[in-house]
Amino acid sequence: MLIAPSLLAADFGNLQSAVRFVNTSEADYLHIDLMDGVFVPNITFGFPAIKAVSAAATKPLDVHLMTVDPVKFIPQVRDCGATIMTIHVEACTHIHRAMQSIRQAGMKVGVALNPGTPLCMIEEIVTEADLIMLMAVNPGFGGQSFITSTISKTERLKKMLKETGSKAIIGVDGGVNAHTGGLLAHAGADMLIAGSYVFNAPDPLSAIHTLKTL
Ligand code: DX5
Ligand code: ZN
Repeated sequence: MLIAPSLLAADFGNLQSAVRFVNTSEADYLHIDLMDGVFVPNITFGFPAIKAVSAAATKPLDVHLMTVDPVKFIPQVRDCGATIMTIHVEACTHIHRAMQSIRQAGMKVGVALNPGTPLCMIEEIVTEADLIMLMAVNPGFGGQSFITSTISKTERLKKMLKETGSKAIIGVDGGVNAHTGGLLAHAGADMLIAGSYVFNAPDPLSAIHTLKTL
């Protein structure tokens, strides 16, 4: 299982030590949530903060944009050194063109879906994506409860990827813990994004290890 701890749940007063902790862990990516207060009712990191995090990080960055018009931020996200840029299908009128632009900028392409967005929204573009990220909470905040319909959505997505020959991996973001992570692993998820379960754990390294071995 690929693991991406979400920095949103870290101590913002000491981000460098959170990044160093992730560097030493079994995590595969560092997940960074960029919110604009418009697409979602919250604001998080801006580009100067992401650049500083990136400079301290040894794991590849997966930058999750919860913004309207994410295409206009492609150069900044690239300049932050992101490996994956994940955009929401709901935020893009021209998702296909947006994905092409991310790839042309030299990044891997992630496409996220809100819990209320059906899989048919990505049917035509799954073969162009590197990552399909299912939101298991309504985006905007950490520490929310897992929406259980994400399990069957993961199974259906797995089937869709197989039928279309897509090589995209399936990520799930929100409400991930050892229990929901186990269900997701069984349903076909390839990558788990976890904020509070990792950073609020008494032993964050072993929390990552638990998810890693699901
Ligand atoms: C939510 C973010 C998530 C968040 C997950 O909008 O996209 O990445 O950090 O937090 P937990 O794991 O606490 O649900
Ligand atoms: Zn996220």
